[in-house]
Amino acid sequence: MFSTPFSTQSTIYRLGSNDRRTALFENLWPLPQGMSYNAYLILDKSNVLIDTMNSCYGRDLVSVVDQLIQNNLAEHPEHSATLDYLIIQHMEPDHSTEISNLIRQYPGVKIIGNKKTFEILSQYYPTGDTSKIEVQDGETLSLGKHSLKFIFTPWLHWPETMMTLEESTQTLFSADAFGMYGALNGGLFDDETNIDILESEMRRYYSNIIGKYSAMVQKALVKLGASSIKSIAPLHGIVWRSNPQHAIALYDRWCHYQSDEAVVIAYASMYGFTEAMAEHIAQSIAKGGIKDIHVFDVSKTHPSFIESEVWRSKYIILGSCAYNGGMLPTMETLCNILGAANMKGKYLGIFGSCSWNGGGVKNLQAFAEKSGWEQLSAPIEIKGQSNPEKLALCQELIQATLTLHSETQPCPN
Ligand code: FEO
Repeated sequence: MFSTPFSTQSTIYRLGSNDRRTALFENLWPLPQGMSYNAYLILDKSNVLIDTMNSCYGRDLVSVVDQLIQNNLAEHPEHSATLDYLIIQHMEPDHSTEISNLIRQYPGVKIIGNKKTFEILSQYYPTGDTSKIEVQDGETLSLGKHSLKFIFTPWLHWPETMMTLEESTQTLFSADAFGMYGALNGGLFDDETNIDILESEMRRYYSNIIGKYSAMVQKALVKLGASSIKSIAPLHGIVWRSNPQHAIALYDRWCHYQSDEAVVIAYASMYGFTEAMAEHIAQSIAKGGIKDIHVFDVSKTHPSFIESEVWRSKYIILGSCAYNGGMLPTMETLCNILGAANMKGKYLGIFGSCSWNGGGVKNLQAFAEKSGWEQLSAPIEIKGQSNPEKLALCQELIQATLTLHSETQPCPN
C-alpha cells in the first residue's frame, strides 16, 4: 500500500492499493487492467480515516495509518496521537473488511456512519462495544483545521452510501462515485495521468456498477452543488485534484442518458447465419454515413464491455439465433444485464435467423417490450442462411437508423 499527501503541505493522504491479480470485480465484471482501491486519512487535532479496504489488498492499512500518525506528530505535536474516527461511507466489502483489524488496533476509535451503515455493519463484522456515532444528513464534524460535512447519497452505490465534504479545501470524498476500473499506472492524480485513456474504464464502471441508479446520481449532483467542488477523492481510481469538473461533466452526461450518434450491433450466432445479418446491417449503416459503429459477438465479448458501449450509444441492434426455443444463453445474459441497468432513450432493432420454430427473435422482442426503447423497425427473422433476398428484409431497420441519424446532423450550407 502507498500513502500520498494531496499536496506538499496537505495532511490529507490517499492510501491506495493496486490489484492486478483478481480476474473479476464482484466476481462478475472482468478486470483486464486490474483495479485500484483508495482510503483516505486526514491528520488534525482529531485524526480520521475515511473507509478501509478489503484485507486481500489492504492488509497493511493499519500499519500505514499508524506510521503516518506517528510521523505527523514530529511536525504537528498539537495533533492527535491516535486514530479518533473511522468514517464508513460505504459498506461493500471491497472497502470494509479491514474494519475488524482497525478496531483491534484502535479500540478507542469512534465509528461514524448512518442508520443504514450500522444495520449492515452489524450483519458483517462484530464490533463489540466500539463507540458508534450515527450522523444525520448534512451534519458536520470539526477536526481542528478541517471540517467534515456528511452528505447522504443513497444508492451510489448501496442504500447506506454517503459522501464526506471536507469544507476547508472543498474536497469531496465521493465513495464509489467518480471511480473507475483499472489499477493505476503510476499517476495518482488527474494531472499526472491521461484522462482520455482512463475514460472508457470509468464509463464501464459507471454502466456496470452505478448506472442502474442514475436517477439517484441526478439527485446527488444537484444536492452536492457540484460546481463548487475543488477536488474529488473516490474509493477507486485517480484523485481529481486539478479538474474535478471534468469528472462531474461525465457523470452529468451519463446519468442523463445522453448518447453519442453511435451504433452497437451485438449478435449471438452458432453457425454464422445471424452473424451474416449483423455484418450486412453494419456495412449498410457504415455506407450510409455512420462511422461510430461497434459490432460484438456476445459469445466472445463479456457483457460488461458491451453494456458500456450501449450506455454511450443511441442505436442498439441485437440479434440472436434460436436455441432450445429461446435466445442463445449468451444473448439472454446480455439482455438481463441491459434490462437491469434501466437505461433510457435508446432506439432498438432486433433480428436473427432460425431453422424451424424460432425463439431467439421472439424472446428479443419480449426484451424490447420490457425495455421501453423505441423500436427502429418490426423484428426481422429469416430462416437458415442469408441471401440477398433475405438480407433485404433488414432494409427498414437500416433505413430507420440512417434517417434518425441524418436528422441530428447539421444542415450543409
Ligand atoms: Fe467499491 Fe460499491 O464498492
